Amino acid sequence: MATYKITNSTYFVGAIDWHRRLFDSLIPLPEGTSYNSYLIRGSEKTALVESVDPSKYDELVANLESLGVEQIDYIISNHAEQDHSGSLPNLLDRYPQAKVVTNAKCKGLLEEHLGIEGDKFITVGDEETISLGDKHLKFIIAPWVHWPETMFTYLVEDKILFPCDFLGSHLAPSQLLVESIDEFYEGAKRYYAEIMMPFRTSVLKHLDRLKDYEISIIAPSHGPVHLNPKPIMDAYRKWASDEVENEVVLPFVSMHGSTAKMVEYLTERLIERGIRVKPFDLVGTDIGKLAMALVDAATLVVAAPTVLVGPHPLAVYATYLANALRPKIRFLGIIGSYGWGSKMLDDLKGLVTNLKVELLPAVIVRGYPKDDDLKALENLADEILSKHKQLNLL
Ligand code: FEO
Repeated sequence: MATYKITNSTYFVGAIDWHRRLFDSLIPLPEGTSYNSYLIRGSEKTALVESVDPSKYDELVANLESLGVEQIDYIISNHAEQDHSGSLPNLLDRYPQAKVVTNAKCKGLLEEHLGIEGDKFITVGDEETISLGDKHLKFIIAPWVHWPETMFTYLVEDKILFPCDFLGSHLAPSQLLVESIDEFYEGAKRYYAEIMMPFRTSVLKHLDRLKDYEISIIAPSHGPVHLNPKPIMDAYRKWASDEVENEVVLPFVSMHGSTAKMVEYLTERLIERGIRVKPFDLVGTDIGKLAMALVDAATLVVAAPTVLVGPHPLAVYATYLANALRPKIRFLGIIGSYGWGSKMLDDLKGLVTNLKVELLPAVIVRGYPKDDDLKALENLADEILSKHKQLNLL
């Protein structure tokens, strides 16, 4: 249990989850996470921005009690996902006079997911403001970072932006208030890759819109609070831009060594040509690392053996994930091997409908790769080099 004073009016009252290792039963959390909830005391009203994951409700209440909070007037819900909203029903029982302040879409989701009654809400629209007396909260409707109902809250007098998931990081911070993101860069990029990357267009649009706001502090709902907004906003601008790097991401799986040999050979040929390669053995890969690699790379090459005439299921998983995350990669290669027959190529191509990529010549080999097969991989390395040169990446 810990609270942190951010300004004279605003306190962190959320919870650090040091030991959580998986989010959504999907996303690895090698450094834990936090559920940031913020108390704002105005001269007349008190507001809480977000609740916490239900597993940490008691910690939130203990934090509020430690600050002597007896009444909450408004609970701001920027986003309906349960890691922020899940404690709302219990909070509303404990503070029955509190109203949930949110937009119409979020209200609908909170009613459906958490069973909160309609009369517990105050519904706000874009750029609407509520008063806490000497402080004012302004709401910025910001859909699709990363659900349709997402919004930001801006504490006008203190110039604090509460963007919920946006600009957040999945890590348990031992230092909550930070000036630089150097120490947190990987956690922030991992978060962007896993949560925000599919919504690059919305990310850029909302960053542009925030230019109209003077922001001194960014207080997201996961990870550290940014006392200097520029580094994290600049990082998001770069990640979400169309700019790609001279890099090939190479997720692979091999059963008897044929595909592994192809991956090794292609990796060496790419490196010889001055291209960075990030191979990921899908047996045991941290998919967060794979997602992070996809943020900047120009090219993805998936490498797989054949199982029951289709691609190995681990390659299906990685390809499906890449398609869902919609990275800005420009080129896609598929390589692999088979024993007696394979429709792997068609199956994998069918999984990338979201990706706006140019397909590179596939190299699918029967058995262990032979001289002709290695030559085809060399040609593939030449092709990737040529494509990267066309983009002036080297
Ligand atoms: Fe942190 Fe989309 O919830």
